Amino acid sequence: MPAVRTAVMPVAGLGTRFLPVTKAVPKEMLPIGDRPCIEYVVAEAVAAGIERIVFVSSRGKDALVDYFDRSPALEAHLREAGKVDLLAEVLRVAKMAEVVSVRQGEALGLGHAVLTAAPAVGNEPFAVLLGDDVVDAQVPAIGQLIAAGAASGAEAVVALMEVPRADTRRYGVCAGTFEQPGRMRVRAMVEKPEPEVAPSNFAIVGRYVLPARIFEVLRHTPRGRGGEIQLTDAIAVLAAEGAVIGEVFAGQRFDTGDLLGLLRASLHFSAKRPELRAGVDAMVQELLRGDIGR
Ligand code: G1P
Repeated sequence: MPAVRTAVMPVAGLGTRFLPVTKAVPKEMLPIGDRPCIEYVVAEAVAAGIERIVFVSSRGKDALVDYFDRSPALEAHLREAGKVDLLAEVLRVAKMAEVVSVRQGEALGLGHAVLTAAPAVGNEPFAVLLGDDVVDAQVPAIGQLIAAGAASGAEAVVALMEVPRADTRRYGVCAGTFEQPGRMRVRAMVEKPEPEVAPSNFAIVGRYVLPARIFEVLRHTPRGRGGEIQLTDAIAVLAAEGAVIGEVFAGQRFDTGDLLGLLRASLHFSAKRPELRAGVDAMVQELLRGDIGR
């Protein structure tokens, strides 16, 4: 497998679960502490050696591109004020990766979003990272997938997580056989099956490594669940050929597409910061005593 240099990040969603704030703020810009969610996802990709980020975006999402762009007026202001630490922070973000943005004119599903990125990706394997899944891991989750692809020779790799059976309706679900602990040769994939018909309880988390030929498959993928063009359905075509593995990645995953998941991520990443830890612990004690949230 040639090096994976590009990551596609679909960010066109309206973020209705976070209304009203998402009337004016893209959901990917909601903060985990003092950083937007999307920065954690971009940082994961960069830590895995990815150099280019392709945002598949929509109207009202300019804040994302602005965030990763240079900001000459702000930089000049911080420089003149001698605020070197803040200047370094602002520059660090602007230099994380090359950012490209393409527009998904119509919301026709995740598969359609990925297909929209085709001209920006070109003819090489690429990663897909979904912004609602933030993963904290020693080795970046997408890096674990890239390594698994290289080791197994598989054309496509999806991240897997075991979920309670009752939750299968929230995820793409994979079935197959484990070639080794934590590595499934995927034979079938179903988007959001009801628990009674789910082929397993191994769910797809929002991390994928895909070959460029997925674009051709996506062009012929009919609308599936919810009337949308599903990425899961396109990858299932490759899985039927034996070209897909599912990797049960090591790391902690946060569903930041959900209010409590976002709060949990904020607590987790704040508690990891030495300067915030004591404050977070004290706050949790207050909560347990019933002094917060009455
Ligand atoms: C998408 C995919 C689904 C996957 C999930 C992971 O669904 O369609 O297969 O399991 O992301 O977060 P969404 O949550 O965008 O509806």
